[in-house]
Amino acid sequence: MNTGPVGVAVVGAGVISAEYLRTLGTFPDIRIVAVADIVPERAAAAAATHGIPLAGDLPTVLDEPDVELIVNLTVPAAHAQVASAALRAGKHVYGEKPLTTDPADAEKLLAEASERGLLLGGAPDTFLGAGLQSALRAVRAGHIGTPVAATTAVQSLGPEAWHPDPAFFYQPGAGPLFDLGPYYLTALVALFGRVERVAATAARARVRRTVGSGPKAGQSFPVDVPTHVSALLDFASGASANSTFSFDSSHPRIRFEITGTEGTLAVPDPNTFRGPLRVRANGDDAWRELPVRGRTDGRGLGVLDMARAIRAADDPPGRGARDTHRASGALALHVLHTMAAITRSADRAEFTRLPAQVVPPTPLPEDWDPTAVTLGR
Ligand SMILES: NC(=O)c1ccc[n+]([C@@H]2O[C@H](COP(=O)([O-])OP(=O)(O)OC[C@H]3O[C@@H](n4cnc5c(N)ncnc54)[C@H](O)[C@@H]3O)[C@@H](O)[C@H]2O)c1
Repeated sequence: MNTGPVGVAVVGAGVISAEYLRTLGTFPDIRIVAVADIVPERAAAAAATHGIPLAGDLPTVLDEPDVELIVNLTVPAAHAQVASAALRAGKHVYGEKPLTTDPADAEKLLAEASERGLLLGGAPDTFLGAGLQSALRAVRAGHIGTPVAATTAVQSLGPEAWHPDPAFFYQPGAGPLFDLGPYYLTALVALFGRVERVAATAARARVRRTVGSGPKAGQSFPVDVPTHVSALLDFASGASANSTFSFDSSHPRIRFEITGTEGTLAVPDPNTFRGPLRVRANGDDAWRELPVRGRTDGRGLGVLDMARAIRAADDPPGRGARDTHRASGALALHVLHTMAAITRSADRAEFTRLPAQVVPPTPLPEDWDPTAVTLGR
């Protein structure tokens, strides 16, 4: 039985790995043991920058006994294959979003993890941040009465202006729905519970795009997914939402409002860990700021929550902790099913029902402390 900090390997040393490595490095309950990439220089550079002892390819880090948990930060098309190899090597896996590009692959991963007694988790973990946890608390405290509906929108011209290797954002498993949808849909599921059915339309403004920065600037690449998606969602709780996801708009905008019987809550950007959080009660003529309390550490809070669940499940007395981690594979799978159903609905021009799964994540305790040493040494 392992004790002390959980040994982690990051696989995929691209753009987002810097945030993970920075954040995870501040949590005493996690020890970053290794970093891997199919481009060896990227793994070596990340290891040098963050003082990580081992750099190599995937087989190298999977062979390392001190690695217990793989944080899979590869591109969406590689998520399933990397996660499956890690589970077969006996490692727990936390994956960036989407969990896989196809729900059937994600179902297989969940089954494989369960058969092997391993944990599977998935991004996003932004709903564990101060902004969204404060929004959840405000709803539970009755600030807007009974929640009834949400309106969300995220729109921009897409990531190719700033991302040095943006082609994957326009391949299956990405586009605005699969790339940004997980933030909005995970937050909605945390607020309203599981999605029951969806209806959607989808469009694409351009069939090719151009890299805007870095060594590949000026290169063009194909757009193989819809880049403007509008969805209606019905939740099993009776609440509903209308959500727009767009990489076609020259007006960058984020909107996330929850309307209840007594007022409306303006929820912070669910792709961040921060506020602001505002409420407008029925009859008010202005918004009022609500307090935002909790952690703003950055991507990795879900990995820490999972690491602690791994150790708690290893505890001989058993605290029933195996499935207590909040950014769980089951939640990520439900969000993936929702995005796949939105895609199918847009293709067929009809409402699409979802499999009845998922239990919404439990709230974090208000005093949850990622920097506490809870796993001993
Ligand atoms: N860039 C962001 O702002 C951002 C934010 C949140 C989440 N994400 C998610 O994180 C993931 C990675 O995004 P990114 O922007 O860092 O992409 P990236 O292209 O910058 O990095 C991905 C890295 O994975 C490596 N890789 C690909 N296949 C691999 C394999 N089979 N084995 C080992 N390494 C492999 C690539 O060589 C590359 O270094 C995606 O799922 C994305 O949706 C990105």
